[in-house]
Amino acid sequence: MDNRGEWSSKLGFILAASGSAIGLGNIWRFPYITGANGGGAFVLVYLLCVFVVAFPIMIVELVIGRKSKKDPVGAFKTIAPGSKWWIIGAMGVMAGFGILSYYSVVAGWTVAYIVKGISGGLTVSNLDPAVLFSRFAANGKLQIFYLFVFSAMTVYVVIGGVKDGIEKAARVLLPLLFLLMVVLIVYVLTLPGAINGVKFYIIPDFSKINSHTILMAMGQAFFSLSLGMGAMITYGSYLPDDDDLFSSAFYVTFFDTLIAILAGFIIFPALGGAPTKSGPSLVFVVLVDVFRKIPFGGVIAVIFFTLMAIAALTSTVSLLEVVTAYLIDEKGMERKKAAIGAGFLIAILGIPSALSLGANRWLTRIGFLDKMDFIFGNIFLTFGGFMMCLFVAYKWGLECFLEHLSEGCQHVGKPHFNGWLKIAIYFICPLAIAILLLYLILTGESLG
Ligand code: PHE
Repeated sequence: MDNRGEWSSKLGFILAASGSAIGLGNIWRFPYITGANGGGAFVLVYLLCVFVVAFPIMIVELVIGRKSKKDPVGAFKTIAPGSKWWIIGAMGVMAGFGILSYYSVVAGWTVAYIVKGISGGLTVSNLDPAVLFSRFAANGKLQIFYLFVFSAMTVYVVIGGVKDGIEKAARVLLPLLFLLMVVLIVYVLTLPGAINGVKFYIIPDFSKINSHTILMAMGQAFFSLSLGMGAMITYGSYLPDDDDLFSSAFYVTFFDTLIAILAGFIIFPALGGAPTKSGPSLVFVVLVDVFRKIPFGGVIAVIFFTLMAIAALTSTVSLLEVVTAYLIDEKGMERKKAAIGAGFLIAILGIPSALSLGANRWLTRIGFLDKMDFIFGNIFLTFGGFMMCLFVAYKWGLECFLEHLSEGCQHVGKPHFNGWLKIAIYFICPLAIAILLLYLILTGESLG
C-alpha cells in the first residue's frame, strides 16, 4: 500500500481533482446546454443543483476514498467486507472505461482543430465551417487517428504516477488554462455585439425553466464534477489522513463551477446573443464561423482549442486513473503495464464512437457515441451517485462517515453542519437523484 502514491500537497490535490472536474463538460457541454435552456435562468438552476445535490456527494466520495486508500472496488471491499457493495465500485470502473472511450473521440477533435488552426485551414479556406466539420467527422481514418493520439497523451501522463504524472501535469496545465481563458474573455468582450451575448447569459428568463431543465442541470452537475463513478474516490485515496476533506471538496466544486461559468463568457459574447443553433456543433461550427470573421481569428481559434484540449486531457487522465488504480490495487499489476493496457483497450472501444459521426452508416444511424454518453455519462453516473448515498446512509452509517470526515475537518460535531449533511445524504441527494434516474430510464432521453 505504501507505493500507491500520494499528492505532494493539498494544492496538488485540488489542482488534480479540479483538472478531473474541469473538462469538455465545462467548455463544450455547459455552454450549449445553457444556450438551449434559457441562458441565465439555467445557470441559476445549475448552481442550485451543484451546491445542494452534487457537493455532498463530492464529500461522500472523498471520504470513502481517503478512508479506504483504495481504488473504487477495493474501497467498498475494505469498508464493507463480505458485502456486495463492491459492485458499485466495479460499475464505476466500467463507467471509466465507457466514458473515456467516447470522450477521447471528442477530445481528439480539439487536437485536430488545433492542427487545422495552425495550418490556417480553419479560418482561411472558404469552406463553410459546417461542411468542414461534417467532412472531418465522416472521415473514419482521421477520427481513429486523433482518438489514438489523444489516448496516447492520456496514457503518457498516467504512466508518470500520482505525483510525477497527474499532479505535475495539472500544476502546469490548469494555470495555463485559466490564463488562456482570461485572455479570450478580455478579447471577446471587445467585439461588437458582445453585450447582447452577455445579456442573454446573465439575465434570467424563468419562463424557460421546467422540470426537464432542472433534471438537465442536475445531470450536468454530476458529469461536470466527475461524480458517481469513483474518480473522486480514487483521487481521494491519495490524500493524507489529516486533510480537511470538506474544504478540499469545496475548492474543487468552486473551481469547476467557476470555469464552466467563465466558458459562457467566452462563447456567448463571441456569438453576440443567444445561439441560433445549439448542440455539440456549437463550438466546432458556430464558434469557428465567428473566428473567421473577427480580427486575429486564426490565433484566437488556436488558443481556444488549446484550452479545450488541456481541459479534456486532465479529465481523460482521471478516467484512465480509475481503471489503472483498479488494476494496480486489485490485480497487482504494475502501473506502466496497467495504464498502457487499459488505455489501448479503451481506445479500441472508442472506434465505434469515432465512426458514428458519418463514417459508418449503421453506427451513425444508431448514434453510437450519443448512446454511450447516455448509458455511461448519464445512467451509470447517476446510479453510482445514488448508491453511494445509500451506502453511507444505510450500510456504513453516517456516524462512522462523520467520524472519518472529522479527522481534519473542524466543522464536524457542530449541530448545523452535522444536521445539514444528514439531511443531504439521507433525503435530499437520494431523492433528487432517484427522480433524475427514473426520468432518464422512462424517457430514454439523453441529457447531453
Ligand atoms: N468532469 C469531466 C468533464 O466535465 C468529465 C468526467 C466525468 C471526468 C466523470 C471524470 C469522470 O468534462
